[in-house]
Amino acid sequence: MSKNKVLIFDTTLRDGEQCPGASMNLREKLAVARQLSRLKVDVIEAGFPVISEGDFTAVQTISKQIKNAQIAGLARCVNKDIDAAGAAVKPAGKRGRIHVFLATSKIHREHKLGKAQDQILKLAVDGVKRACKYVKDVEFSPEDGSRTEPDFLVEICRAVVKAGATTVNIPDTVGWAVPEQYGALIAHLHDNVSEFQTGKAIISVHCHNDLGLAVANSLAAVQAGARQVECTVNGIGERAGNAALEEIVMALQTRKDVFRGFSCGINSKEIVKASKLVARMSGLPVQRSKAIVGENAFAHSSGIHQDGILKKRETYEIMDPRKVGWGKTELPLTKHSGRAAVAARLKHLGFKLSPSDIAALFDHFKDIGDKKKFVYDEDLTALVEDILTMVPETWTLNYLNVSTGNQTVPTATVRLLKTNGGKSESEQDAGIGDGPVDAALKAIDRITHTTGKLMDYALRSVSQGKDALGEVSMKVDFGNGKLVAGRGASTDIIEASARAYLNAVNRHLDTGGAQTKKTKRGKP
Ligand code: KIV
Ligand code: ZN
Repeated sequence: MSKNKVLIFDTTLRDGEQCPGASMNLREKLAVARQLSRLKVDVIEAGFPVISEGDFTAVQTISKQIKNAQIAGLARCVNKDIDAAGAAVKPAGKRGRIHVFLATSKIHREHKLGKAQDQILKLAVDGVKRACKYVKDVEFSPEDGSRTEPDFLVEICRAVVKAGATTVNIPDTVGWAVPEQYGALIAHLHDNVSEFQTGKAIISVHCHNDLGLAVANSLAAVQAGARQVECTVNGIGERAGNAALEEIVMALQTRKDVFRGFSCGINSKEIVKASKLVARMSGLPVQRSKAIVGENAFAHSSGIHQDGILKKRETYEIMDPRKVGWGKTELPLTKHSGRAAVAARLKHLGFKLSPSDIAALFDHFKDIGDKKKFVYDEDLTALVEDILTMVPETWTLNYLNVSTGNQTVPTATVRLLKTNGGKSESEQDAGIGDGPVDAALKAIDRITHTTGKLMDYALRSVSQGKDALGEVSMKVDFGNGKLVAGRGASTDIIEASARAYLNAVNRHLDTGGAQTKKTKRGKP
């Protein structure tokens, strides 16, 4: 590996997924992992295997299916965690990595762990040694590293590298660092641990964005000697998120004059696709003015800027939008397009679907094609994502009729099909509400015996035109304090809302969520 190669370690599926309401099912995680593989990230942190069966299966499946990246599983410095991570990454063979972490800062040692420095040192070394029994590629993270005493951190780095770690990651767990000081800390470690100078081990950085400095801190660390950056697509993650992958990559590529000689192997043309996929799969929309991947990132509205751009693009544009995957879209499909044309377009968009998924998608495509003149790539992507986000459907929407107006009490009549052991029965009810969406969701609550509280609701148009598909994403609390994401798309926004809510109800039931006791239904 070249001395100045900066490895990109993507933790969208682990730290990103820790963002409340962002949890993804296996199919969604696989879709993201495939896109990360097209992006050519060096490491995919696929999950935290010990925390749930779902996480274990996701890490194991991604380890089997993704062939061009290291696959990492996270573990605390605890035997059962390390064993679970070792088993989950086993199918990756040499591409398996175990990422062990243990807090090292004074505040964590004293208040969280109740342990002294020498005890922490021993636990870290034992954890790394145990991980080395499973894989050659072991990473160690001293959690809250940026607030740990620098000389103790040097001691930790030396000890874990001696025990077999080939990457030592210095997390800014609480987003406390500022670039100059964080860069100085990384330089201090680089200067005092000989293995970081010889390349026997590398320094990694992992920055959170509580002060909006995650990217700046990561880049300062690269200049000070770090050779791996941990980041997430769209910067999603705990609290204010992690360093955004797209910003790190494009800063390295665009400011080669400053980051002289540094390179990363990312295929930047896949960035926008990755951003859109992660936004949909996680239910966390990207703000319009977000750098690189926001809708407005390359939109020039002022006349002076537009004039400048027309004369010479570089006057106001520091990056070519096509380099990150913005740009021309293909001719739209229509209801006359055949199955082969749809399948070919899906392939072009990078989706790998099974024949049964293509058949289901084609039926949905025909419905949409009947309702609108053109089916754009964005519409097709929304349909694919409907299929990917599907969970076993206890309830499906069969009929929806809404009566509303400024002098009418909004009323919705809903009929749902309930599938049970291959048989389906229909149930119908009505609801009244503050508006037609409220009425439809209340009718669904009455039929499914669930009571969801809408915590977040977003509607966006998937493509252009008055007949565009509307896509609703929402977060629902079914009373257990967990946020469940739901999404649905339709040319009718009330129907899209009902579909999104049903998607959340089905996810809630699929993960063992309870229905309220069946009682005689009262008035709507
Ligand atoms: O922020 C953090 O400290 C982490 C570690 C597990 C690396 O996510
Ligand atoms: Zn983190």
